[in-house]
Amino acid sequence: MFQIIRNKTVLWSIFLLMFGSHYGKEPGDDKVSPAAKVTVYKDPTKSVTDRVEDLLSRMTLEEKIGQMTQVDRQFLERDSDIATRYLGSLLSGGGSTPDENRPQSWADMYDRYQKIALSSRLGIPILYGIDAVHGHNNVVGATIFPHNIGLGCADDPDLVEEVSRITALEVAGTGIDWTFAPCIAVPRDERWGRTYEGYGESPDIVARLGKAAVRGFQSGKLGSPGNILACAKHFIGDGGTKWGTGRNGKADRGDTQISEEELRAIHLPGYLSAIEAGVGSIMASYNQWNGTYCHASKYLLTDLLKEELGFEGFVVSDWEGIDQIPGDYKADIITAINAGIDMVMVPGAVPFGGESYTRFIELLKEAVEEGSIPRSRIDDAVRRILKIKFRMGLFENPFTDRSLTEKIGSKEHRAVARQAVRQSLVLLKNNNGLLPLSKNMERILVSGKNADDLGNQCGGWTISWQGESGSVTEGTTILEGIREVVSPATEVLFSRDGFGAKDADVAIVVVGETPYAEWEGDKADLTLDNEDRETLRRVKSAGIPLVVIIVSGRPLIIESEIDDWDALIAAWLPGTEGQGVADVLFGDYNPTGRLSMSWPRSMSQIPINVGDEKYDPLFEYGFGLSY
Ligand code: BGC
Ligand code: BGC
Repeated sequence: MFQIIRNKTVLWSIFLLMFGSHYGKEPGDDKVSPAAKVTVYKDPTKSVTDRVEDLLSRMTLEEKIGQMTQVDRQFLERDSDIATRYLGSLLSGGGSTPDENRPQSWADMYDRYQKIALSSRLGIPILYGIDAVHGHNNVVGATIFPHNIGLGCADDPDLVEEVSRITALEVAGTGIDWTFAPCIAVPRDERWGRTYEGYGESPDIVARLGKAAVRGFQSGKLGSPGNILACAKHFIGDGGTKWGTGRNGKADRGDTQISEEELRAIHLPGYLSAIEAGVGSIMASYNQWNGTYCHASKYLLTDLLKEELGFEGFVVSDWEGIDQIPGDYKADIITAINAGIDMVMVPGAVPFGGESYTRFIELLKEAVEEGSIPRSRIDDAVRRILKIKFRMGLFENPFTDRSLTEKIGSKEHRAVARQAVRQSLVLLKNNNGLLPLSKNMERILVSGKNADDLGNQCGGWTISWQGESGSVTEGTTILEGIREVVSPATEVLFSRDGFGAKDADVAIVVVGETPYAEWEGDKADLTLDNEDRETLRRVKSAGIPLVVIIVSGRPLIIESEIDDWDALIAAWLPGTEGQGVADVLFGDYNPTGRLSMSWPRSMSQIPINVGDEKYDPLFEYGFGLSY
């Protein structure tokens, strides 16, 4: 049957090709210019506004609702739902990867989904989103850059723009159109597990670097080759939640209990500058502001963001973000869409107790038909989404640019990441000018659980959602980096637990955190763990000079140990290019990083932020030594 239809289509096409210019003409048609015969929305010579209005006028309610629906690919019940449910967007959540996690397979997967989308009645391409938050971090073999906290300490907008430009190239190399980045949270409490996703605790650093990131992803202008859509997140106040009000009684997804004045002063500037840079999408935040969920707030999403700030892109909800609004699912949908959410990240996680996208579609349709959501609100949402798709050139270039696929993880890209690592390190202590070390020492001992662990130095949002210890992808550990830069005559010993320090000239001990993301990283205790303390004690007892490197997503509490250390570097979560750390250790780069976050002395000081009335951190905001 399908065969016959297909053959009929072929015959019809041949017929049109042969007789098309005369077939079906009405009297007077000859006076119309040939261009007017092309369907307006398919015609790239037409203005985006004309194309959007033309397409919108052809769409049924189901097709419009489909555009507003975003599903994680792993929860697609059938791939054909992309066409039959008119889905407007797919995403890969953290770790939602094709079976074979290689750039090529990602590109093949993307093209396959896109082909299905294009086979629908109106042939509207999907927009595919992913968390490329420090490089294209779900993809094995991609270049992994330092997490934002490190880039905040580098505080170099040109660097951030370049990092984002390269991330965009790698994302585009797998076909993907859209990154849920930059995260322009302003983390005000180090206990929050997402602290490392923000550039720093002050709004001006976040505004400066967030703008640069948007420029890098979108190449200044949507639709230029190799660029992707950016998404500033999470609107608004995600970094300001009060400890104890969040998930599991901690910080993440909690309540930001501050005045409107403070909300605007601290958490809004990043959005002003992202919008100025032309950011095409913004993600709503899980947190509440004084008891109201951002996802439910018409005041925040519509009055403030769209009307007062004039944001013309679209607002996407966070993963099951509307589900947490009080009331049943249908009520959640009505509240969220009326508040100003344009696209809903459903994402369809039924196996994990989430709502199915078919139910979402059904309930949204019901709500519109019964008048609980005005049709004008639906049209506004779809207009915003379609406008971005047209501006991105998706209708003209829906498939992967394969020339970019092979450049994923290339030497040139990794060189930029290595430079980013060098610039992000902060030298906090350097007694008697111990650093930089000579490359010609006889014997160096390297120790600590984070010295030779690629997964640990990459942190969360790497290959999987929470991240993982071990060799999760391709890259160079800090130990390997050290071995690369020292002279061939130098012996580099590695002992994870710090035994055997006696015979070495110097010890480099790399301690800190292991990977986490979101609420799983919320921690009431940020002191060093027992393994780190034991390793440090062992090395210290050998009586040789001791350099400590902390690999972590935030400042850790070290006041009772630091006096034992001769030198200290905060390396944050540097990513795959461990040589960047070695470059600083051995003087190929004179450190320039400065703290973008106050370094507390004790847990009881947290939250602590620059500008506080009583301000007595271990290291002040802006602190950092050079050689
Ligand atoms: C996070 C977002 C992320 C989304 C998709 C959510 O849990 O809060 O930052 O973009 O998942 O992975
Ligand atoms: C996904 C993440 C998402 C999280 C939220 C995970 O399963 O992989 O992307 O942010 O769920 O709960």
